Amino acid sequence: MQFAKVAALEEAFLKREIDKTVSPQDHMFNTGPDWYFSVGVDAIRVIFRALAMSSLGDVRRILDLPCGHGRVARHLRAAFPRAAITFADIETDGVDFCTQQFGGTGIYSRPDLATVELGTGFDLIWIGSLFTHVDRSRAEAWLCHLSRLLSPRGILIATIHGNWSKEVQRSHGAMIGEVEWAEILAGYEATGWGYARYPGPDDYGVSLCRASTVIEMASRAQATRILSYNERGWAGNHDVLMIENRDRMEKF
Ligand SMILES: C[S@@+](CC[C@H](N)C(=O)[O-])C[C@H]1O[C@@H](n2cnc3c(N)ncnc32)[C@H](O)[C@@H]1O
Repeated sequence: MQFAKVAALEEAFLKREIDKTVSPQDHMFNTGPDWYFSVGVDAIRVIFRALAMSSLGDVRRILDLPCGHGRVARHLRAAFPRAAITFADIETDGVDFCTQQFGGTGIYSRPDLATVELGTGFDLIWIGSLFTHVDRSRAEAWLCHLSRLLSPRGILIATIHGNWSKEVQRSHGAMIGEVEWAEILAGYEATGWGYARYPGPDDYGVSLCRASTVIEMASRAQATRILSYNERGWAGNHDVLMIENRDRMEKF
C-alpha cells in the first residue's frame, strides 16, 4: 500500500472516537486502562507499518483472532470503519461482546482452530497473543492454515513472545510459575521454541521463541513472503511476525 494511503488511513483513525466500553468479563483489562488502551492503539500502528510494506490495495475483510473481549477490536473498527470484520475466539462471551459492540461476524473457535470454519479472502488477519500460548507444532499448523485464508496480497500479523519476554517473566510480573518457566527455557535453548502448560486440563500455556525459529517456521508457509520480524514490535513487548500472501518464488 502506498505510504500516502497509509498516512491518510492513520490521519482518519486518529480523528475517530474509540468505543471505550469494556466487558466486565475482559481479563485483559486487569492491567488497568492505560496499558489496555495503549496496547490496543499500538496494534493499529503495527498494522499500518505492515500495510506500508505490503502490496495490498485495500483492507475490506479482517479476521481478528483471537479477539478476546475487544482490546484491539475497538481500534480495528475505528481504523477500518467500512471493513467486514470477523471476530473469533474460544471464549464465546468475548466473541458476542465484540460482535455486538463493534459490529461484525462472530465465530466460536475450538482448541484446534484449523478445524473451525473461519471464512476466506481476508485482507488482514490479526493474531494478537495466540502463538504466545501454544507449542510450535500448533503455531506452525495454524500459521499455514490461516495464511491460506488470506486474499491475494493479504497480510497476516502474529505476535510472539521473543527475547524480551524473559525480562517480563523476571521483573514485570511472572507469566507462569517457576517450574513451568524452567521447562520453557529448556525447550527454548534446545529447539528455539519453549512451551509449558498452565496448571489445569487444557493444553494452553506460555511459549518463548527465538526469532530465527519463527522465521524458519514462517518460511515453510507455502506461497507466502515474510514481510518482517520486528523484535518488541507490539507495544514494546511482543515480537511481531508479518507475512503476505504473495508467492516468494513468483517470477519477476
Ligand atoms: C492473551 S488473550 C489475547 C486476546 C486478544 N487478542 C487481546 O489482545 O486482548 C488470548 C486469547 O486466545 C484465546 N484462545 C485460546 N485458544 C484459542 C483457539 N484455539 N481459538 C481461538 N482463540 C483461542 C483465548 O480465549 C484468549 O481470549
